[in-house]
Amino acid sequence: MTTVEKVPAELLVDFDVYDAALAHPVDTMQEKIAELAAKGPIVYSTAHGGHWIVTHYQEIYDILTDAETFSSYPNNLVTPADFGRFIPLELDPPDHTSYRHALQPLFSPQRMKKLADDIRVQVNELIDAFAPKGEAEFVSAFAHELPARVFLSLMDWPLSDAPMFTEVTDTILFGKPGGTKEESDQAMMMAAMTVAGYFNNVIAERRANPGEDATSALIHTEVELSDGTRLLNDEELFRMFFLLLMGGLHTVQGSLAWMIAHLSKNPEQRAALIADPELTPKAVEEILRIEAAVIPGRRATRDVEIGGVRIAKDDQLILTLCSANRDAEQFTDPGVLDINRSPNRHLSFGAGVHRCLGSHLGRIELKIALEELHRRIPDYALVDRDPPVFHSTQVRGCARMPITFTPEK
Ligand code: HEM
Repeated sequence: MTTVEKVPAELLVDFDVYDAALAHPVDTMQEKIAELAAKGPIVYSTAHGGHWIVTHYQEIYDILTDAETFSSYPNNLVTPADFGRFIPLELDPPDHTSYRHALQPLFSPQRMKKLADDIRVQVNELIDAFAPKGEAEFVSAFAHELPARVFLSLMDWPLSDAPMFTEVTDTILFGKPGGTKEESDQAMMMAAMTVAGYFNNVIAERRANPGEDATSALIHTEVELSDGTRLLNDEELFRMFFLLLMGGLHTVQGSLAWMIAHLSKNPEQRAALIADPELTPKAVEEILRIEAAVIPGRRATRDVEIGGVRIAKDDQLILTLCSANRDAEQFTDPGVLDINRSPNRHLSFGAGVHRCLGSHLGRIELKIALEELHRRIPDYALVDRDPPVFHSTQVRGCARMPITFTPEK
């Protein structure tokens, strides 16, 4: 009997996380996932050849913290462009541990402190360009470019390349909007080659002329791997860079847009934040909780029971962190934004060995952005006749968000 034949009828659904209608024209992803969560902690979808969808907090946490039973490869039900495995995201221990260890110095507390100063400068530079106008399309004017600039600062690469990176990564993820499937595939391939060419140039250049920068340090770090202790090869570096690029873009872009959307709907909480910016870190956690961006995937490495359901070896699962974060067993009034929520043990950055490496960096970006937006354009509002456009897949986010505010003098 195949898995689908064994699944009880009441747990069988056809939910497709890649269905664009879940986010556009209206964002209904959370509602639809809440309907799945009401059926139980785990359901089975017939989409994409069949896979489990785990929706409750405890079961998701148990899966994320058991890397032996749940491999993180493949993480995606659909791979936009075939780059092989993301490193370290789609590797399991022990190799995962060594690669992750190699990346850790990039995210050291000292580096994060230095990056915070750079980020405040970048944030203000982006706000300068639209603050006097009284209106902006928040995603293209701010949320889209900030994470690309931060990625370049993280790697110690030129900031002037940010527009190129934002464009090519969009093409890699979304193809050519309005184009045929063939045109879209072609555009994805070209964009992937542009990124590959750029990364290969940097790798060759820093191998030949190492400097004090983060990229040189990574290139010259020895890593203990199953085939011995050695330097990372070009392909490994490429796959790491690619994950660092993609991991921090649409996640942060979406979270920045959700900050605007939720706080403009909750004016008292926004006023409290403006009056006391010390509350900002807690507000950032609450935005992260209420709208988790990522829906990670796992594959069972053996037969196992979870949430009262028998999962077979090699079954694929996706974990809806956004519903874990709204699980009433874990959070009081889970659908309500509360910037003072404490404790707030959300799972937006995952858990276990793959817990987000960039979580501190992401938090710093969101905190500084919110502080500076509140200082400079505090009365931002969405535009009723031109509402925001969200997008879904295994990374949820926002593609467009027109806003108005009192122009800065
Ligand atoms: C709001 C922002 C962010 C969110 C919500 C987020 C979310 C996540 C989640 C849920 C995972 C775990 C996925 C899994 O277990 O399959 C993850 C892993 C990862 N993230 Fe983030 N992320 C964010 C920002 C960033 C940034 C800024 C970077 C780096 C520039 C980054 C780099 C990574 C990397 C390298 C991993 C893989 C870690 C590993 O496999 O050991 N992320 N992220």
